[in-house]
Amino acid sequence: MSEITESDTPYTALGFYHKISQLRADTWNALKRDLGKLVRLRDESQARNLVKAIDIKLTRLEIIEDYHAFPSKEDFRHLWSLFDREEYSLLEKVVKRLVRALISESYRRRNVDLSESDAGAEDLEALDALAQLRRGHPASNSSSQPYFELLIVDAMSVQEEEVVREAFHNLRRPEDRFVYDVVTVRSFEDALIAILVNPNIQACLIRYEFPYKSKYNLSALRNYLEGLSESELESKSEAERSILLSSMIREIRPEIDQFLVTSGDVEATASQDIRHFNRIFYRETDYIEQHHTILRAIDDRYRTPFFDALREYSKKPTGVFHAMPISRGKSVTRSHWAGHMIDFYGINIFLAETSATSGGLDSLLQPYGPIKKAQEYAARAFGARQSFFVTNGTSTANKIVVQALVKPRDIVLIDRDCHKSHHYGMVLAGAHVAYLDSYPLNDYSMYGAVPLKEIKKTLLALKRSGQLHKVKMLLLTNCTFDGVVYNVRRVMEECLAIKPDLVFLWDEAWFAFATFNPTYRPRTAMHAARTLLDRYRSDAYREEYAAWKAEFDQCDPEDDATWLEQRLLPDPDEVRVRAYATHSTHKTLTSLRQGSMIHVHDQDFRQKVEGPFHEAYMTHTSTSPNYQIVASLDVGRMQAEMEGFELVHAQVEAALSLREQLYTNPLLLKYFQVLKNSDMIPLEYRQSGVDTFYDPSTGWNKMEEAWAHDEFVVDPSRVTMAIGQTGIDGDTFKNEYLMNKYGIQINKTSRNTVLFMTNIGTTRGSIAYLLDVLIKMAKSFDRRWEDSSRPERKIIEHQIRSLTQELPPLPDFSRFHDAFRPLTESPEGDIRRAYFLSYDEENTEYLRFDNGALQAEMQAGRDVVSASFVIPYPPGFPVLVPGQVVSAEILRFLQALDVKEIHGYRPELGLIVFTEAALADTQQGGD
Ligand SMILES: Cc1ncc(COP(=O)(O)O)c(C=O)c1O
Repeated sequence: MSEITESDTPYTALGFYHKISQLRADTWNALKRDLGKLVRLRDESQARNLVKAIDIKLTRLEIIEDYHAFPSKEDFRHLWSLFDREEYSLLEKVVKRLVRALISESYRRRNVDLSESDAGAEDLEALDALAQLRRGHPASNSSSQPYFELLIVDAMSVQEEEVVREAFHNLRRPEDRFVYDVVTVRSFEDALIAILVNPNIQACLIRYEFPYKSKYNLSALRNYLEGLSESELESKSEAERSILLSSMIREIRPEIDQFLVTSGDVEATASQDIRHFNRIFYRETDYIEQHHTILRAIDDRYRTPFFDALREYSKKPTGVFHAMPISRGKSVTRSHWAGHMIDFYGINIFLAETSATSGGLDSLLQPYGPIKKAQEYAARAFGARQSFFVTNGTSTANKIVVQALVKPRDIVLIDRDCHKSHHYGMVLAGAHVAYLDSYPLNDYSMYGAVPLKEIKKTLLALKRSGQLHKVKMLLLTNCTFDGVVYNVRRVMEECLAIKPDLVFLWDEAWFAFATFNPTYRPRTAMHAARTLLDRYRSDAYREEYAAWKAEFDQCDPEDDATWLEQRLLPDPDEVRVRAYATHSTHKTLTSLRQGSMIHVHDQDFRQKVEGPFHEAYMTHTSTSPNYQIVASLDVGRMQAEMEGFELVHAQVEAALSLREQLYTNPLLLKYFQVLKNSDMIPLEYRQSGVDTFYDPSTGWNKMEEAWAHDEFVVDPSRVTMAIGQTGIDGDTFKNEYLMNKYGIQINKTSRNTVLFMTNIGTTRGSIAYLLDVLIKMAKSFDRRWEDSSRPERKIIEHQIRSLTQELPPLPDFSRFHDAFRPLTESPEGDIRRAYFLSYDEENTEYLRFDNGALQAEMQAGRDVVSASFVIPYPPGFPVLVPGQVVSAEILRFLQALDVKEIHGYRPELGLIVFTEAALADTQQGGD
């Protein structure tokens, strides 16, 4: 056997755990190919080389498979013994069978025996794979007995391991709801590696004494083990070490059910912090008890209360004397004309359509039964204290949260390039709005996100103008459409130091999936809120705060630098942690369109918000909410709790593969440039200094470093590609090339970029197709150039220059006109007043800027004030909001825009603006 350390070759390492499943599959396939070649080879020296390569691959795979139940350790010993006996032909057969079992996932459905005598097994595998293909979905027995793996942490001998595995195997019964196999690891580090690399692990049994160190030296863990020293861990008692391990498992994979088996002092263990364990077993507890407890815990996550209730309901015979002729398919089954609706959808969807809220169902507006349960499960899955389903998208979820928390004249700080639902939400709520500017990425006509300094500066301005007591909420988009992610904890912590009861609404429309990945999760609102609450309740924080305060008090509070240049900490006696997140579940997880959730982690929810929240929910929710959406949210939650980790991991893997190709393929590089961390995040916001997460020799190891420390990071699963060098603008590229020619759908473009979003449904195949298309396109651009005449080439060069050099700088928010500012020395504006002022026609007029009329007014000294939202697509954010003064910068931007779609602007009429008389009247207090 050769000695391989993880630094030997790229992709040998578990340090590449971001790509571990691809590495695993690729290495098995390569091994199979090598063996195929070897058994047919006559040349001795070539054969020697192949044997060496096979040895390396087997060694590499053995490391990975050490953390998986299939192939088992015994299977691997069998492979090595065939290798050592030079029985390559037999080894090839066994490896083929093994690869097939891994690809078809048949090991999840039955025991795969790799011993040589297992004749006929290959046929079985083939039949299995065929059956799966016919059913039209990849292999898994999700409909009968789902499979998972149980991790046992214990320093057992090989023989003991076999005994334990056998004991659990013998407990399997056909009537069990699930089937599972056992993976054993012998150390603290190995347990963490196992849960990182093996998504099948759903439960973990921590037993007895185990050492700290793994036999492998693995950098994958570096970030997770920060601050822990080996000697410190070795000196801990058995119970302490188990508890620490359990809390780390919880941090990485909170969904895993954990059980402790202790041989020590029962009472002493029970008195410690054992909250992460579902249950503690004592040495004498038998395997049967453990088996049933584990199955029950898995069942708790697997249950889908509302989906189950709806399925039950659909089976019941009912007479409908109610609304909804379509319910039970009645209006279409007997139709002479509309029957094809049933042909298309199948009957079940109609059997499940009803307006009933009883008979086992529930009311979304006042849930008491299965919807209530389903929402409680959602709160568990997303780490919230309360969760609410919304059947009208995050557009509605945002308005519900704002209405529940914001009274007329409360001040809300909000990023100006946020989704339009917020701007309209502000109008409805009557909030006074203080807009925040994101940093611009002028080269790509897009915005980044709002720097913390900008937020602190605005809070400070409001403090100085005596308005801080009116500030209610900070509303930010995390992550942005383009994938810029905030350091949520840091933002909340520093803002709470200035305004200790500030409420945060994080629009995570695009970030629901983030909860299910350990690198992403700390940057979600719910995780940050939970962590901060724990922190502020701890004695350690009180000490940290006291020391910080003593130093802070030495500085001059009147000097802005005191607040802006240093890290601020909130007073633990005053701070309230109040965070809300809205998720378009349908955008990134399984849910029918419009399925969204509101997650709440607000210390004051019960006392202060529950009533208004209910009213706000009533305001915006239909009295006929769509049950199919609710059921899909329930299933989406369950799926995320069962396999979210695996799916998000695979998504990130797929995106990283795409990025790798785009970073390195010379033909693609000629026309396309994938934006890296450094392209989207200026250095001042990258404290880690990490320019790109990818390095050809060390892989994606830097990702964690940046995600742990930087003010902003890029979500690598969203791939923004600059296309200026093609000479084609984003909109044309999207519609005429990607969509019309190749059937590739994308959502967002800017003038010179397109955004490829991966999701949990993205496969390696779809990435390969996209790359193929991009290569074809690059070749066609090569041909276009070759076939062009000189004047045609000049045109192409001009287009490229226009898209890469002549980009209008993105304008900042100018200001609200004084007529809409409660206090002229304070930045906030009454957007509602401006919005409704435009309802009376005589208050507004149109001014064109293509004929110079608007410019002439500005030159004459008039404040030209927009009476509507003006939103160009792309980039899709309002350049003007009602009540906002048109600045020269904004005008230049509008003039330079070459997009076809500008909401709120009619080219034949111009911009709609307030008349000077209306403004004067408003300023004097008229309505
Ligand atoms: C940041 C953001 N918030 C909210 C929404 C609205 O979400 P939904 O489509 O679920 O209504 C969107 C939609 O694109 C969005 O980008």
